[in-house]
Amino acid sequence: MTKSTISNLISERAAGRETTHFATGPSDEPPKGFKPHPKPLPLHWGMPNNGFFPIDSIDVNLVDYPFQKSLSLPVTNASLENLSLNSSTDKLVDSAKSNTVRIDRFTDDENLIDISKGLQYSYTNGLAPLLKFTKEFISRVHKPAFEDWETIITTGAGDGLNKVADLFLDPEDVILIEEFTFTPFLANIRSVGGIAVPVKLDISQKSEGIDLEYLEDLLENWETLKPGLKKPKALYTIATGQNPTGLTQGVEFRKKVIALADKYDFAIIEDDPYGYLTLPPFQKPKSFLKLDTFLTVDDYIKDHLTPSYLTLDTKGRVVRIETFSKLFAPGLRLGFIVGHKDAIKAISNYAALVTRFPSGTSQLIVNNVIQQRFGGVDGWLQWILKMRITYAHRRDVLLDAIYESEAYKKKYIDIIDPSAGMFAALIVNFPEGTDIAAKIKLLEWKLIAYGVGVVPGLNMSVDKKFSLARANFLRLTYAPANNDEELKEAGVRLTKAVDEFFENGLEF
Ligand SMILES: Cc1ncc(COP(=O)(O)O)c(C=O)c1O
Repeated sequence: MTKSTISNLISERAAGRETTHFATGPSDEPPKGFKPHPKPLPLHWGMPNNGFFPIDSIDVNLVDYPFQKSLSLPVTNASLENLSLNSSTDKLVDSAKSNTVRIDRFTDDENLIDISKGLQYSYTNGLAPLLKFTKEFISRVHKPAFEDWETIITTGAGDGLNKVADLFLDPEDVILIEEFTFTPFLANIRSVGGIAVPVKLDISQKSEGIDLEYLEDLLENWETLKPGLKKPKALYTIATGQNPTGLTQGVEFRKKVIALADKYDFAIIEDDPYGYLTLPPFQKPKSFLKLDTFLTVDDYIKDHLTPSYLTLDTKGRVVRIETFSKLFAPGLRLGFIVGHKDAIKAISNYAALVTRFPSGTSQLIVNNVIQQRFGGVDGWLQWILKMRITYAHRRDVLLDAIYESEAYKKKYIDIIDPSAGMFAALIVNFPEGTDIAAKIKLLEWKLIAYGVGVVPGLNMSVDKKFSLARANFLRLTYAPANNDEELKEAGVRLTKAVDEFFENGLEF
């Protein structure tokens, strides 16, 4: 049997693991004359019978759209009609008669998770109905171009990242990382003894993120540029709505990265918590929120979503990390990984060691809400469309406040209008020769004094020295604000502080 591309990249530690459970029956050949009993009784598994569970049923009460109960803007009537599940003409009508999803102790519906299973000890890879959903979802939105792909449920993208660090990296193994990134991953890399090598980013409005010329040169001249370091085993990329820059790689760009991965034989770890929140270009915000854009799920997938690396990779070297944190809720601690079955098997062996299995309560709530309320994949995507429009509006409100400011008009700042996600990079146009590290820190103090929180790009760098010249930006997010007024006010405070800072000769 030929080995899969990915199996050559799996760490020795991960490849060497096996999982067995002491209560599994003997694995050798049954003795001659053995006949399995038609009705075996369990005195082996230490699972408390579900009759011991104090919860008999759970009612999950839902809203029709984000901020339904607290929206300060009027929503257009057409929007409301469009959003009301009962007036919709698609299959949601049958499945969603009310805003309450009832979860019972037992169900015969194989698409649902009942309390007897959801609250019980369970399978490492996740409960069957949710696993089935993840496969249907990925087949619909980002169908892998390689055979033999599987999914495994995780306890969120952070857990997914820990698992892929284990999957690929033995001590001294090298992983390439966008120079500004989700830095908690660096701790996962360190904990397995891996070495993170930053890759330059181009941080400007037209950019797609990674500086491809830099990457190509780095790979081509690895021995000279990184003497003593092993060749990279993987590239970690947040390809859509990148954290912290908000940048998104286009399809052609991704094809070039895949070609490099094929040429230099490394895996691609695609971390994508933000990709579904695609944002149209900035528009002056309206005084009402129009949620009915009449964008169909088909058009969203075809024209708005940037295809995942999964859809372009024919060799099975891509591992994609998904999470329900941004689309459902972070407190669930629920996500999943998509990859070649050999990668998923190795991850499963590690999961059996570290997380055992993801929270059944979270799986039960997410799965049953998606099935009973949204009616499956397309209904879930319709909810995502509502989220995306709400995020786009928030982005518009914040950017509008910035575009209207003195600091922007005086060209002290630029802002990258993101095409996906919840982050926008505010570029600070320091004069040539400015000590960026010192002045960004001082500016941060000024912003704190003005009552606005931001993240300096430098805080999210892999290597401060390497990235200093490109660290003249602040990460802004429009995710946590309570309402438009707060976003507007934050934009005003932010830009006033910058203006004063510049007018004071870059002093506090
Ligand atoms: C790029 C990236 N990866 C992973 C995570 C962690 O996500 P989760 O809450 O699913 O663990 C985040 C959270 O902010 C993130 O921005």
